[in-house]
Amino acid sequence: MATAQAQPNIALIKYWGKRDVSRNLPAAGSLSLTLATLWTRMKVEFSADFDRDRLLVDGEVATAMLPRVSRCLDRVAGGNRPCALIESHCNFPIAAGLASSASAFAALVVVANQACLEAEDIFEPAVLAAANSRTTLDLARLAGAASGSAARSLFGGIVELAASDDNIDVSTLLPSQDWPLRVVVAVTERGHKPVASGDAMILSEKSSPFYSSWVENQDHDLQVARSAVKTRDFDKLAAVSEHNCLKMHSVMWTSRPPVVYWNRGTLACMEAIRDLQSAGQAVFFTMDAGPQVKAICQPDNEALVMKTLGEVDGVEAIMNSGLGSGACLLDDS
Ligand code: PMV
Repeated sequence: MATAQAQPNIALIKYWGKRDVSRNLPAAGSLSLTLATLWTRMKVEFSADFDRDRLLVDGEVATAMLPRVSRCLDRVAGGNRPCALIESHCNFPIAAGLASSASAFAALVVVANQACLEAEDIFEPAVLAAANSRTTLDLARLAGAASGSAARSLFGGIVELAASDDNIDVSTLLPSQDWPLRVVVAVTERGHKPVASGDAMILSEKSSPFYSSWVENQDHDLQVARSAVKTRDFDKLAAVSEHNCLKMHSVMWTSRPPVVYWNRGTLACMEAIRDLQSAGQAVFFTMDAGPQVKAICQPDNEALVMKTLGEVDGVEAIMNSGLGSGACLLDDS
């Protein structure tokens, strides 16, 4: 049975909106940091003896997620594929705005591709030929069809996803060792998010008066972020990332009904980070489809950022990570 691991990624220039819902193509590009120490591990076994797909998440049967997982397996292994047993393990809270679907679907496409090759006697030659020839970008596109942000977790370090009319291109902009940024995550609630991000972004497109200008300005923000990354300009990256995050949340808040993922702890963490900035610390925040706050900083002030956020009212846990690599097969597979 093959096993793959992928790390979640945290977007600095966000993906929020779809150009093509049926193919799950994003309306604009995005830029993210792939983490090192948070992970999802996936095992997949195809067998002619199975009569249905089964999904276990951290040892528990997970029926709600199964249709999305099965559709992703169809894309990798073909609609006529044998049924599969899928086992997923995650070392951080899932469906809580910590990009668990990104790491899950990135790991899933990598492991499913390998699982086809390992069960060659039960697959048609065309499926095996496709599995044999897939590049990392091909796998990223398959992951992106399941969860837009998952495409970025196929690559390590600082990653850019470019959206064209017809498809996506994803690549590493800067390898992790070239800029040792740190990410401190303040968990303010472990529960599942109230609205899935895929549904919420469709609602935003339909109802937020800010949606079209959000999409129109994405290229500009991406350009600024790309140049900040290339020149390792922390302050420039901080400014454009916070601005982009707040714009995305403004689009969410002005959707009808409003999509509000923040809680009191989220706001208190933002305030604490603002105080650190006023005291001259190089740190900035970003939040996704959940109430957790991610603070980006540098190795020399990481301990201070962790201590500061750890003392904020409403913070339940602190996690930290450097930048890591893209999804890969594990040796024991
Ligand atoms: O990939 P999805 O459908 O889970 O959407 C991710 C959306 C955000 O996390 C809010 C932003 C992003 O770019 O990751």
